[in-house]
Amino acid sequence: MTNAGLYIHIPFCNAKCHYCDFASFVCNNDLKNRYVDCLCTEMQRKGELFKGYIFDTIYIGGGTPSVLPYGCIKKIVECIQENFDISKNTEFTIEVNPNSLTDTKLKEYISCGVNRVSMGVQSINDNSLHAIGRKQSFENVKNAFEILHRNGINNISADMMLGLPFQTRKDIRKIVNFFVKHKVKHISAYMLQLEDNTKLKQNVQSGKIVLPSDEETTKLYQYAIKLCNSKHYCLYEISNLSKKHFESKHNIKYWNDIEYLGLGVSSSSYYGGMRYTNNGNLEEYLNNIESNSSVVSFEEKLDKDTMRTEKIMLSLRTAKGLDLIDFETKFEENLLESKKNIIKKYKKALNIKNGRLYIKPKYFVVSNQIILDLI
Ligand SMILES: C[S@@+](CC[C@H](N)C(=O)[O-])C[C@H]1O[C@@H](n2cnc3c(N)ncnc32)[C@H](O)[C@@H]1O
Ligand code: SF4
Repeated sequence: MTNAGLYIHIPFCNAKCHYCDFASFVCNNDLKNRYVDCLCTEMQRKGELFKGYIFDTIYIGGGTPSVLPYGCIKKIVECIQENFDISKNTEFTIEVNPNSLTDTKLKEYISCGVNRVSMGVQSINDNSLHAIGRKQSFENVKNAFEILHRNGINNISADMMLGLPFQTRKDIRKIVNFFVKHKVKHISAYMLQLEDNTKLKQNVQSGKIVLPSDEETTKLYQYAIKLCNSKHYCLYEISNLSKKHFESKHNIKYWNDIEYLGLGVSSSSYYGGMRYTNNGNLEEYLNNIESNSSVVSFEEKLDKDTMRTEKIMLSLRTAKGLDLIDFETKFEENLLESKKNIIKKYKKALNIKNGRLYIKPKYFVVSNQIILDLI
């Protein structure tokens, strides 16, 4: 049996945040139920193909899975169990956000085997939240954490964003202290990306919203990481920190070249040396499933060159870095020799220890240039 990860995309939200370009839509319950039926059909189609696999991580992400009506997650999980082999010790994560989580829904998730909850907090400064079109308040966030605690969820991950309008170091201290108080085990800290075709970009271009400069955002990121470190959260990937033993097993698969199956609109899969991406258009996805057509809109065979590039790119985003011997075995290239000059150029930022090449976490913010040069 081969170990693999399972990702299920739920493309629904109660409102569209102004910065977000993920496949997520505001829809009614009829469409949500139709989507869940289609997901089940996709699972039935893929089940046969994955007979030799055992899934030891499941991640229901989005969008916002917690906006699905009560009963939908149970239906999805029953369908997973009918069509795939699931390990007994599966890390089973669901993404929720503060204004759609309820006790009843969380109880449903727990009864289905969910043992890790990822909460999209982003900020606890109501001015910042308002400026990015995030329809939640600090009150909602506090209530949502109470729901998690009441129901005994111990493995909590929380997302925060850096580089938001009105954000100061004081806000970062407040949110990190809030996470500590609520025994959050894992933090994803994302620097705001100003995506094309978003309302935030329009507002910034028209001067309605002013964002911190790149330099200020970098400083906020560095400050946040330092503060989290002082609270015993260890940075194990550019945007991810955790308490010891609470790294996301599912996300580690993406960075470590382990196979995964993605189901639903816009999801990606990687197996059998191929990468697949599903259609990102909700209506087309539904119609394709219902007419028994393929939902894959892009596929590529990963040749050796692409795999080499991805290996360098993904490994160097992690604190553990790149295993040099494994790399040489796979790609017949001694990186210390072939990239001698580049490694020398970045000698302050790079380290080589126990057969691994890695970027010192302090230099993660400039990692893009280093990685590009190494590729
Ligand atoms: C797709 S969302 C799913 C979580 C959930 N929908 C929520 O927002 O609460 C995953 C995370 O991506 C991050 N994210 C989304 N758009 C982003 C952007 N433009 N820049 C930086 N981070 C972003 C947010 O931190 C968000 O929590
Ligand atoms: S950030 Fe999360 S809640 Fe906001 S629109 Fe995107 S997926 Fe939905």
